[in-house]
Amino acid sequence: MTWIECGPQYLESIRGIFNEAIVNSTALYDYEPRSVARIQAWWEAKQASHYPVIAVVNDQDELMGFASYGPFRAFPAYKYTVEHSVYVSARFRGQGLGRQLLERITLAAESQGYHAMIGVIDAANATSVALHERLGFLRCGEMREVGFKFGRWLDLVIYQKLLAGPETPEDG
Ligand SMILES: CC(C)(COP(=O)(O)OP(=O)(O)OC[C@H]1O[C@@H](n2cnc3c(N)ncnc32)[C@H](O)[C@@H]1OP(=O)(O)O)[C@@H](O)C(=O)NCCC(=O)NCCS
Repeated sequence: MTWIECGPQYLESIRGIFNEAIVNSTALYDYEPRSVARIQAWWEAKQASHYPVIAVVNDQDELMGFASYGPFRAFPAYKYTVEHSVYVSARFRGQGLGRQLLERITLAAESQGYHAMIGVIDAANATSVALHERLGFLRCGEMREVGFKFGRWLDLVIYQKLLAGPETPEDG
């Protein structure tokens, strides 16, 4: 098992993981699988903003899971806050990889000087809720019936962790 900064050769694997979650779960509030172009644009946007995409691959060079973050909300004063995501391929869940990915992406955010990490989780996603609570994320709220998928209303729960940085935060 190797931890890597994800390169473009793994984008099809990432697309597969996203699309499995879209088709089979409410982890993502999409209805349609994501196209090759959309994943390429997602990755390019991460590169352009220096947001890491960390991943773990096995000895056969299969991508087992990945984590990243991006802007929380598109207003400048949120600049020290990121919203993260963590995904493990269905074949490799329940082995502690999600936990390690979340630990590593939190360290990455801290080292880049961010101050707050936000996790926005479907309320029915017991695994993700357990994972965030285990790693010290605090539940800051619940938004009821803000999504609709598979013929039912979906509730969101919001989790937050404060990080050390930056030492001297500045406006602007
Ligand atoms: C959520 C996800 C990333 C977790 O990754 P994982 O590798 O399966 O999780 P881990 O093996 O690291 O387990 C994490 C914790 O959840 C707990 N857990 C696992 N399955 C659980 C379940 N069904 N119900 C409650 N807790 C569960 C584990 O016990 C573990 O806690 P512990 O460290 O105290 O033992 C993974 O299941 C996944 O990719 N799911 C689909 C996409 C998704 O939901 N992403 C998150 C969007 S917010």
